[in-house]
Amino acid sequence: MKKNITFTMIKPDAMENGYAGDILSIFLKSGFRVSAMKLVHLTISQAQTFYGIHSDKSFFEELVIFMTRSPIIVAVLEKNNAVEDFRKLIGSTNPDHAKEGTIRKLYATSMGENAVHGSDSEINAQIESSFFFAGNEIF
Ligand code: GTP
Ligand code: MG
Repeated sequence: MKKNITFTMIKPDAMENGYAGDILSIFLKSGFRVSAMKLVHLTISQAQTFYGIHSDKSFFEELVIFMTRSPIIVAVLEKNNAVEDFRKLIGSTNPDHAKEGTIRKLYATSMGENAVHGSDSEINAQIESSFFFAGNEIF
């Protein structure tokens, strides 16, 4: 049976601000298990491909520059109802609208620099996990 997974990134702003440990701790305390994890420094091309859905948006170039600015942590997380529960845990894209206690409320600095990524569907969780991790034996 396929495990119930989501894919996350701890983005450059959170890494630079020293929040990675606290954010990982929240993932674990919220019932997510780490199936795969690594530190990567995205290339321009990787960031453009990963966020390709947004290539026609006004903020796309800014997003690619931001995501390639410094190393990030990418991870596959496992939990029942992983995608939906994780999106709740991270909060709204814009931290001004994120609920109290969510990761973006706690650690994001702006709409663009919002600390973490979370998959928006089960199919995207699979696609995004496969973008960074080979071999579905780990997730
Ligand atoms: P991700 O989990 O990173 O995919 O964020 P999201 O699903 O909450 O938002 P979305 O997929 O719509 O946008 C992807 C990322 O683009 C956001 O997390 C932001 O980093 C960035 N972004 C989205 N909208 C804006 C915007 O209006 N301005 C800027 N500067 N960045 C934006
Ligand atoms: Mg998104």
